[in-house]
Amino acid sequence: MDREGMIQEIQRMKKERDAVIVAHSYQIGEVQDAADMTGDSFALARYCAASPATVIVFCGVHFMAESAKILSPEKTVLLPEIHAGCPMADMVTGEALRKRKAELPGVKVVCYINTTAEVKAECDVCCTSSNAVDVIRSIPERDILFVPDQNLGSWVAAQVPEKNIILWDGYCITHHRIRKDEVLKMRALHPDAVLLVHPECKPDIVALADFVGSTKQIIDFARNSVARKFIIGTEMGVLHQLQKDSPDKKFYLMSTGLVCPNMKKTTLTSVYESLRDGKYEITVEEAVRLKAKVCLDRMLQVGK
Ligand code: 13P
Ligand code: SF4
Repeated sequence: MDREGMIQEIQRMKKERDAVIVAHSYQIGEVQDAADMTGDSFALARYCAASPATVIVFCGVHFMAESAKILSPEKTVLLPEIHAGCPMADMVTGEALRKRKAELPGVKVVCYINTTAEVKAECDVCCTSSNAVDVIRSIPERDILFVPDQNLGSWVAAQVPEKNIILWDGYCITHHRIRKDEVLKMRALHPDAVLLVHPECKPDIVALADFVGSTKQIIDFARNSVARKFIIGTEMGVLHQLQKDSPDKKFYLMSTGLVCPNMKKTTLTSVYESLRDGKYEITVEEAVRLKAKVCLDRMLQVGK
């Protein structure tokens, strides 16, 4: 089947199955174009929870589809590539977290949405990169364990100095490897460009940024800015939306290393096969789901 035929079939099956397709902004361009909704992890979680569709085809990584299932157990949630995981999410396990909590009695636990359902079930409240500061501020207690991203945790700690944030040692394999000398080189090459950085980058990179935000916040900032040139410090998939929104502006990727191999596993063919064969269905054990839902619901109440 050619590309056009596949796109038509995807649209036909979507109607037939009462499905919606959502895609994270790190997905390849043609998958984003096939989706009903694109965005960051918070926007997609909220959209899926509110969607009346029977089936959600989640073009992203495992924890994102799992979060959709936690919030909407009555829906069928499909992840087109079952091996699209997030190495950061695997850097904290339920067992390791339970052990650490026992060492820190009375400490509130905040998890990044990049975690498994089992880990969410152990936490007080969830957050994404778009609302982490607001979530932390919403907690009355001073001592907070933040898992698993040390970089997002450090960035939040700097915004909320009145809290004592205890960090985990996880990180994103894509954002964490960016080096300061690469960024300084890009700055020197494009001295009039605005530098927009995701908080999963290391603190020495974040310190160089003109703006720090989630993928959606970066896209919105560039769209609304009067500046003409931008250095983009997050995964290359966002360039698709940025160029679509502002074809007259110039976008330079901060480093050629900004590619998430897991996000790139999903293709138009995987989306087509997902709808055709109903694969891969995401399930969450009910006892775990109920606890993890409390953690996600608290985040949705804080909003952003
Ligand atoms: P966003 O919250 O910006 O979507 O980030 C999620 C993620 O996995 C980034 O690596
Ligand atoms: Fe995980 Fe990083 Fe990929 Fe996001 S970009 S899904 S944090 S590995």
